[in-house]
Formats: sequence, C-alpha cells, structure tokens
Amino acid sequence: MYVMSSTPNVLVYLLVMSYCVVKIACRVEFTNIKCNSEDKEFSDFEYCYLKSVNRSYKYLSLKVNLFQVPVTKFSTKFGLYKRFSGYKPFLYNFTVNGCNFLKRPKSFPVVSYFYEIFKDYSNMNHSCPYDHDIIVDKLTIERINNRFSKTLTFPEGDYMFEFHFLAYGINRAVVKVYFTLS
Ligand SMILES: *[C@@H]1O[C@H](CO)[C@@H](O)[C@H](O)[C@H]1NC(C)=O
Ligand SMILES: *[C@@H]1O[C@H](CO)[C@@H](O)[C@H](O)[C@H]1NC(C)=O
Ligand SMILES: *[C@@H]1O[C@H](CO)[C@@H](O)[C@H](O)[C@H]1NC(C)=O
Repeated sequence: MYVMSSTPNVLVYLLVMSYCVVKIACRVEFTNIKCNSEDKEFSDFEYCYLKSVNRSYKYLSLKVNLFQVPVTKFSTKFGLYKRFSGYKPFLYNFTVNGCNFLKRPKSFPVVSYFYEIFKDYSNMNHSCPYDHDIIVDKLTIERINNRFSKTLTFPEGDYMFEFHFLAYGINRAVVKVYFTLS
C-alpha cells in the first residue's frame, strides 16, 4: 500500500482551511450516490441508494454480489473531489492494498480515518478472503457529520468520494458518493 499524498502539506492545508471547525455551522448532506459494475461477470450491485426517512434521518445502503468467490486480493483507489467548475481532485488520492490494510488498519492512519466512517455499517470489516456479498447497511449522515466535525475539517462546498474497487489488479466497480458541506 502506498499513500500518495504528502502528509505535511495536507496537514498545513487542513489547518489553513479549517473553516468548518465550528460544529454548529458545519453540516454534511448526501446528495447522490452512483454505483457502477465494470465487470458483471465478477460482481454487480443488487442495490445502491440514498434514503431520506425524514429531515434528520438519512442513510446510504448498498449491496454488491460477488460471483467469483473467494476474493483473496483486492485494492481500492480512493479519491476525494471538490466541485469548482467540475469536480477536481482535492487533498486525498491514494491506492491501498485492501488485504494488507485489513490485516493491520492501525498502520495506515489516513486510510483508517475513512474506513472508520463505515466499518461498523459493513460486513467488509474483516480480513481477507471475502466469500460473501458485500453490504453497507444504513450508513447515516450523522456518522459522517460526527466524523467530519469532530476531527478533520474542510471548507464548505460540494464534494465527491470516488472509490474504484480492483480485484486481482482489474477494475471491477466504481462507487461515487456526492455530498455537500454547509
Ligand atoms: C426520523 O425518523 C427516525 C426513524 O424512523 C425516528 O427515530 C426519528 O424520531 C424521526 N425524527 C423526526 C424529527 O421525525
Ligand atoms: C492520483 O494520483 C495518481 C498518481 O500520482 C495520478 O495518476 C492520478 O491522476 C491521480 N488522480 C487524482 C484523482 O488525483
Ligand atoms: C464488524 O461489524 C459488525 C457489525 O457492527 C460487528 O459486530 C463486528 O464485531 C465487526 N467486526 C470487526 C472485526 O470489527
């Protein structure tokens, strides 16, 4: 695994950009989710959606069917994008060897930071191999709000998380989660 961001620069940038530090002023809202299978022989999405139950209760759920189990090797490319005119890469861009990471999450602090957001909502939270479908169940906006406002902070705006899931070096699925910070 290798983190391609230069850590000191990121820290300086985050300090300078810490506008959302006042918790009350900083809200996260999901705005959209897109899931695409790039290889339907390998995996496909059974579902993938955002749901608004009411103003305060919103969540994200998805399920991926894996057709070639066990999966013993995978990696994830992760990018954070911020919208200026079009979505531009913003701060985070890294590739992680998933099986190595899951063996020792504490050795990869930046990846852990993002993984912590959804790990308790997913059946992905164990080491390789995977021999079952992957679920993220009702990941709430509260969870993400807590994560963002209590730890790192970002300027207001529209953002997108983009994940590419590769198994055996081949891109199999892309998930994009859009959200706003206000
Ligand atoms: C929103 O929905 C959740 C789940 O049904 C419920 O527990 C909560 O009380 C609701 N909140 C409001 C403000 O209606
Ligand atoms: C991420 O980094 C790689 C390697 O430095 C580069 O090729 C790629 O274009 C970058 N992607 C984004 C979204 O910044
Ligand atoms: C994975 O998440 C489930 C559901 O929250 C939890 O019960 C389980 O202990 C977690 N497993 C690990 C290895 O963290």
